[in-house]
Amino acid sequence: MAEYDQDQTIGGTTGSVRVDFEPIGRRGTCSCRQTLLQCAHDLGIGIVATCGGHGTCGRCRIIAVRGQLSETTSVEHELISLHELENGVRLACQAMPLSDCIINVPAESLTASQRIQIEGLQATHGTDPLVTSHKVAVSPADLNDLSADDQRILTALSATYGIKCTTVDLEVARDLPHILRSEDWKCKITTRGAEVVAVGPWPAPTLGLAVDLGTTKIAAYLLDLTNGETLGARGTMNPQIRYGEDVVARLTHALSQPDGTKELADEALAAINDLADSLTRDAGVNSSRILEVVLVGNTAMHHLLLRLPVAQLARAPYVPAIAGSLDIKARDLPLRTAKGAYLHLPPNIAGFVGADHVAMLIACGVSTASDRVLAIDIGTNTEVCLAADGRLTTVSCASGPAFEGGHIRDGMRAAPGAIEHVEILGNEVHLQIVDDAEPTGVCGSGILDALAQLATQGIVDAMGRLSADHPRIARHQNMLQFNLVTPDERGGRSALSVTQNDVRQLQLAKAAIASGIQALLQHASLDPSQLNSIIVGGAFGSYIDIKSAIEIGMLPRVPLERFTQVGNAAGVGAKMALVSDSARLNGITLAREARYLELATAPGFMKRFVDNTRLAPFTLQGG
Ligand code: FES
Repeated sequence: MAEYDQDQTIGGTTGSVRVDFEPIGRRGTCSCRQTLLQCAHDLGIGIVATCGGHGTCGRCRIIAVRGQLSETTSVEHELISLHELENGVRLACQAMPLSDCIINVPAESLTASQRIQIEGLQATHGTDPLVTSHKVAVSPADLNDLSADDQRILTALSATYGIKCTTVDLEVARDLPHILRSEDWKCKITTRGAEVVAVGPWPAPTLGLAVDLGTTKIAAYLLDLTNGETLGARGTMNPQIRYGEDVVARLTHALSQPDGTKELADEALAAINDLADSLTRDAGVNSSRILEVVLVGNTAMHHLLLRLPVAQLARAPYVPAIAGSLDIKARDLPLRTAKGAYLHLPPNIAGFVGADHVAMLIACGVSTASDRVLAIDIGTNTEVCLAADGRLTTVSCASGPAFEGGHIRDGMRAAPGAIEHVEILGNEVHLQIVDDAEPTGVCGSGILDALAQLATQGIVDAMGRLSADHPRIARHQNMLQFNLVTPDERGGRSALSVTQNDVRQLQLAKAAIASGIQALLQHASLDPSQLNSIIVGGAFGSYIDIKSAIEIGMLPRVPLERFTQVGNAAGVGAKMALVSDSARLNGITLAREARYLELATAPGFMKRFVDNTRLAPFTLQGG
């Protein structure tokens, strides 16, 4: 074991506080005498500082979410509006942390963008959209034809295309007279079932927006509804993260603050509208061209966005207010779309298995006809579905934020500088770092690799105890840690390590997932070897090394060729539901057929969970 004891206090002064930089998820101890810009720099976080921290460029804006900062300076009063100051906006080069705090670093203040998983498997699907557009010409109104404008277009739709619409959206009706007359009685009519949802000049694109509203990240896709082509994809961090990293923290905020639900809904809504604006701008159109939106998310994200009651979701037996699919006017949220556009929300399965999992099943073609297929969507909450013997059974596993870098001392999300893969060869450590940048922290796939490598090399035992007998083992504040990057290798900065506490957090996360899989297999009386296919999705699930996950017993030891990593399958499922009515109906059927297995009340669950904390191969009996 190395004899040095590193000083984790940045700046090495007395009066240190804990600073949590979000949404990047990098935390560290900072001196109260340092500016947040220096503190971020020491932690390896790149904040834009065009003037070099001299207080002239105003580019280093951050938002104080929680905690106390030093008084605002005259520079800040000069460069930041009063309204922004009142909303917590500060300059990182001016503000110093006086207590533990959470600092939000907006995307525009980061020198490098965070990696957002927006791509998923290439699903093959046809298009049979519910929303379609038609070119219609009607005869002008005159004294011989006193038909109302709505009757004029409804009759034309029926006569020309055989489309039987019966109603026109009220907002569309308000625009209808002007459009008909200004377009010389020729226009584009967009219908959805029996309703006219848009009227506009011909030609114009018929666009739709698919959204995957994740607890950590939001992915959005702009599609041409006429041919199903994806015109653009963008992702962003879920800004709700400032209120807590996982679903439980968000629900707690909603329930404990008078305007908690509204705050969370507004945050998500603003981010989705920003994505819609960016995507349509990239496509050279306005967001008012979006004629349909499909949004998937877990049940808590769904309820918070719609401002549905969540008290019953936060307490046993964790019942959703609404499980069925919803079709509501997008303007009611409000989403920035065409005035008459609808928002379709596919069904939820249970309190902790939401429409995002349904979307994953749609995308992966999992159904009651699937033959012994396990679909796993890994995130802060991990959903697992087993398709076997004509049945779909789902569980929800509280895997927590460890795989997103949360509760891990040097953890961070997958941004430039994150260690994403680790190989330990004797005393040597080989690292793969996102964007080949200087290492700043460890993201989920890196921490999983590190744990698997430590276990196979015997540096950590089955109970998760780090052995002191390795040159890269150091002791800090009475706790052992394995240094992935030593202070020497970082030019004197603090080491980047896997600590004994980190190992414990990972044991809990992997035990949650393994226990969920075991419960499903036992419920179906299946041995892991009988599984024909294991699909692993989710942002983290896309990047993990399956061998590492098997090594620590998180996933069953079956031949590697039976595993498929599918990326953001929920986003793909949302796209399919957007352009295909039959995919949408398939989602409704899947949610109705899926049975939910509540793990907390399953016999022997706690024992199984504890057994699974062992770093040992997956067995049906637990680690
Ligand atoms: S770095 Fe330029 S104002 Fe802060």
